[in-house]
Amino acid sequence: MTFETVTWKNGKVMVLDQKLLPGKTFYHAFDKSEDVAMSIETMIVRGAPAIGVTAALGLALAAHELKSHPLDEAQLLFLKACERFANTRPTAVNLFWAIAKLKNLSQKYFETTVDWCEALYQEAIRIHREDIEICKSLGQHGAPLMPENGNVLTHCNAGALATAGHGTALGVIRSAIAQQKKLHVFADETRPFLQGSRLTAWELLQDNIPVTLITDNMAGHFMAKGEIQAVIVGADRIAANGDTANKIGTYSVAVLANAHDIPFYVAAPLSTIDIQCSNGTQIPIEERKLDEVFEFAGQQIAPKGVHAKNPAFDVTPAKFITAIITEKGVLKAPYEDSIRQVFNSEGAINVR
Ligand code: MRU
Repeated sequence: MTFETVTWKNGKVMVLDQKLLPGKTFYHAFDKSEDVAMSIETMIVRGAPAIGVTAALGLALAAHELKSHPLDEAQLLFLKACERFANTRPTAVNLFWAIAKLKNLSQKYFETTVDWCEALYQEAIRIHREDIEICKSLGQHGAPLMPENGNVLTHCNAGALATAGHGTALGVIRSAIAQQKKLHVFADETRPFLQGSRLTAWELLQDNIPVTLITDNMAGHFMAKGEIQAVIVGADRIAANGDTANKIGTYSVAVLANAHDIPFYVAAPLSTIDIQCSNGTQIPIEERKLDEVFEFAGQQIAPKGVHAKNPAFDVTPAKFITAIITEKGVLKAPYEDSIRQVFNSEGAINVR
C-alpha cells in the first residue's frame, strides 16, 4: 500500500485528506481532538471502519489533553469528548463501537491519570492495528467467492481508504488477485460525493489493479450484457436480520444484480453488525446538505429554487444479499441465525 489512511505519529493523528483526492495527497497532522472530530464530520476521512479507527485515535488525543486533570475529573470530561465524536456522523455503527470501547475502558479503575491516558492510547493503537488484520482475514474468507476470471462491480469506496488498510470489499478483491485470480473492477462513480471515481479508481490505480469507471446509471447496462460476474460492496451498518445500510445507490445495484442472477456480496467486519437493530428500518440514515446534489465539482447544475433530497445511505434488504463476508467467515441466509451464531461464539462484540 502506498498510502496510510489514518495513523498516530509523534502525539498527532495523521489523516489523509480524502476530499482533496485524487488531485492532491495531503496529510493533516491533528494535535487537537476537536480537529479529529471535525475531520470525520466533514468527511476528510470517511468509510465506516476508518471513522471508527479515527475516533479511537481522536479519543486517545482527548485523553492526552486531559492529562493534567485529577483522574475523576479527566474521566468525566472524557465523556464529553465521547459525545462529541458520537455526534459527527449517525449511520456507520463502527464509530459508536469504537467510542464504546474507549468509554468502557475509561470508566475502569486506574491508579493515576497517566496510567488512564496510556491505557486509552494503547487501546486506540490496538483498534487501528486490528482493523488491518481484520480486513486481511476478511479478504481471505471472501477471495474464494470471487470468480477465477471476470469483472466485479463495486459501489462507493470500501477500500484501504475506508479502513486502516487493505479494505473490506476491495480487500476481498486484493486478496483474490494475490491468489492469482484475474479480476477487473467496475467502479460506480457514486454520486453525489463521488467516492467511486475520486477514491476507488485512485486507490486501485495505486495498486495496479485493473479498473473501469462507470457512472451509476450504467450498471444495469453492463449486467444485461453479461459483463459483470459479481458485485461486492462494504457496509455502514448491518441489522440483526442482515438488512444492510451502505452508500446511497447500493440498494439499486442489489436489485439489478438480483434481476440478472449475479451474486451480490457484502464485506464487513463484525463491528459493522448492530444486533440491537432488528431490521433495516431501525438504522438511522444520514441526510446531508443539498449543495452536494445541486452542485457538481463546485458548479451549480440545478435551477435555483428546485427542491432536492440527499440521503447518504440506503438499506439493501437481506433477501438480495448472497452472503456477508466477515473476518470470522462467510455468513449465509437466514441471517438472523448466522449472525446470532457468530455473535454467540465471539461473545458480545457489539458494545454500543
Ligand atoms: O459516506 P461515506 O463515504 O463514509 O460512506 C462510505 C460507505 O458507504 C462505504 O461503502 C462503507 O462505509 C463501507 S467502507 C469499508
